[in-house]
Amino acid sequence: MTGHALLVSVLVLATSVWVGGYVAIVVVARTATATLEPAARVRFFKTLGRRYLWVGAPALLVALATGALLLRGHRWDGLLIATVVAAVALLGLLAVAVGQARRMTALRRRAVTDPANTGLTQQVSRAARGAAALRGLLGLLTLTLVILGAFLSTG
Ligand code: HEM
Repeated sequence: MTGHALLVSVLVLATSVWVGGYVAIVVVARTATATLEPAARVRFFKTLGRRYLWVGAPALLVALATGALLLRGHRWDGLLIATVVAAVALLGLLAVAVGQARRMTALRRRAVTDPANTGLTQQVSRAARGAAALRGLLGLLTLTLVILGAFLSTG
């Protein structure tokens, strides 16, 4: 019983860090866009993204691991299979999103040093839309996992 309560506590805390971090970054991103010059913004996100990776990714791994431990006795029904698929997709998508974000930083840095290059500016806009879609999908998958987890916890 104590072990179960401990696992639930860790799951709640780790999920809070992952979801809270995601929501906070959205607010920070809007604030940075409104207040920082392009060159400063690129430097800011490079540092924030790399630092946050070491907070968000471990929190997500801990949340998934504690969730898996809590569900280890659960039968392999459609709900559990859908949850595992969503969890694996979320981890894969995070890796893809981080790679995309790194390429975005490099692209934005080039655009900042060459503002007259309209081709580059268009490339940045296109890539930024792709990055935003990936981040949106990351949020949607997170929400899906929380809902699936809640249904699984009821038995
Ligand atoms: C929650 C998980 C997230 C993680 C682990 C993460 C991590 C990262 C990493 C590693 C970078 C690359 C830094 C570099 O090496 O250049 C980055 C860049 C960036 N991130 Fe995130 N991020 C997350 C979510 C978000 C969200 C929700 C937003 C905004 C809605 C966001 C906005 C950005 C922006 C604007 C950049 C700079 C690259 C670009 O201009 O697209 N991130 N992030």
